[in-house]
Amino acid sequence: MAFPRGFFIGAATAAHQVEGNNTNSDYWAQEHLPHSSFVEPSGPACDHYNRYEEDIAMLAEAGLNAYRFSVEWARIEPEEGRFDEREIEHYRAVIACCKAHGVEPIVTLLHFTSPVWLIRKGGWEAESTMESFRRYAAYVTEKLGGELRYICTINEANMGLQLAAISRRFTLMMQQAAKNPKSAEGTVQVGMNFEKMMENMQYAAAENAEIFGTPQPQIFVSSRTPEGDRLVFRAHQAAKEAIKALYPDMKVGITLSLHDCQALPGGEAFADAAWDEEFRHYLPFIQGDDFLGVQNYTRTQYGPEGQLPCPEGAELTQMDYEFYPEALENVLRRVREDFRGDLIVTENGVAVSDDSRRVAFIRRALEGVERCVDDGIPVKGYCYWSLLDNFEWQKGFSMTFGLIAVNRQTQERSPKESLRFLGSYAGSYDSYKTGAVNSAAMMPRPTR
Ligand code: BGC
Repeated sequence: MAFPRGFFIGAATAAHQVEGNNTNSDYWAQEHLPHSSFVEPSGPACDHYNRYEEDIAMLAEAGLNAYRFSVEWARIEPEEGRFDEREIEHYRAVIACCKAHGVEPIVTLLHFTSPVWLIRKGGWEAESTMESFRRYAAYVTEKLGGELRYICTINEANMGLQLAAISRRFTLMMQQAAKNPKSAEGTVQVGMNFEKMMENMQYAAAENAEIFGTPQPQIFVSSRTPEGDRLVFRAHQAAKEAIKALYPDMKVGITLSLHDCQALPGGEAFADAAWDEEFRHYLPFIQGDDFLGVQNYTRTQYGPEGQLPCPEGAELTQMDYEFYPEALENVLRRVREDFRGDLIVTENGVAVSDDSRRVAFIRRALEGVERCVDDGIPVKGYCYWSLLDNFEWQKGFSMTFGLIAVNRQTQERSPKESLRFLGSYAGSYDSYKTGAVNSAAMMPRPTR
């Protein structure tokens, strides 16, 4: 039997991507550099800071029973050691709103953005960050822990190493570009202007130095050194200890970005090394956790020469990676080979303009989750990324992952068919198989 009573069917967001005006954060600062690599600044984003009641009500009306969101460190501790009680009250109200709608709040303490002061002190490569994060986690837990059951410490804690690998490839291209920019442009499939990019990088270094005191600020999503990689996981452990000291029963976990690393003949060693780097080498840091947040979007394939491009003719998402919802089941099964705690899918989603493709993606992904649950894998919930069309970091607002569309001029919300479709899965597995849905999900049910 799958999707037992209490299985979470939810949606996820992150503070910076939806709230708007996160002015004390490192991202806000970088978005406003004259030579920023962001296509646009986050600005008011989805104004979720002021409109969360409407958004949570829409989520609940569609039948969803969980909302994963993050609290923003740069709001709560805008200056080192100065905690802002009013921001805690804001998040207390968000949590209360979830509960009033019968929705489980799943809170993330750090979703990529940090306060500027932390980055000025060396950011995510500085030893002192561990203690700063512990203190922040303890503060939030002391204030809000009594109202929560689930805390994710850090979102996609492995992102820095994935970026380090990309940046190694990028550096090679840049070196080639320095010798001959035109020939280098031919080595990548997308149209790139290396001359302009290198020029920008020089300016950006000086502009960063002005704000962060260093030309190369170590924000959370910078490429990590092996020491920085360990630091992130030690910060998780320190935060977990602080949370458990206050609320021993709190379910605490970290989330990881995990690809379905597939080997074609001859690619086994590459696929295995990739999985080791993305997941296996972290086990000593997370093995005792209550749960792992699994975040998956697609697969990557490896051949005898290493990583392969998307298969010929594959359907691509707006993000230019492959539409491949089956990856989620493979990742859940693979994680289970080594990790003993519960699993929660804290993110899985797709950026497409045609919402019927999102419905298809969710259906195929959830079929895989059902098979895992039927096989006794302890998957406790599924949160789709994302509740709203939102600020997709450097790519701005052009990527539409949301179950709800947001009009950029008026901030008006329009729920998509996929929101209703996802909501139809909520309630106990028995009831959804027999058609007796819970009262919140009483609406015409889409055919699956
Ligand atoms: C991140 C989100 C991001 C999503 C889609 C995940 O890596 O946690 O912040 O928006 O992927 O790219």
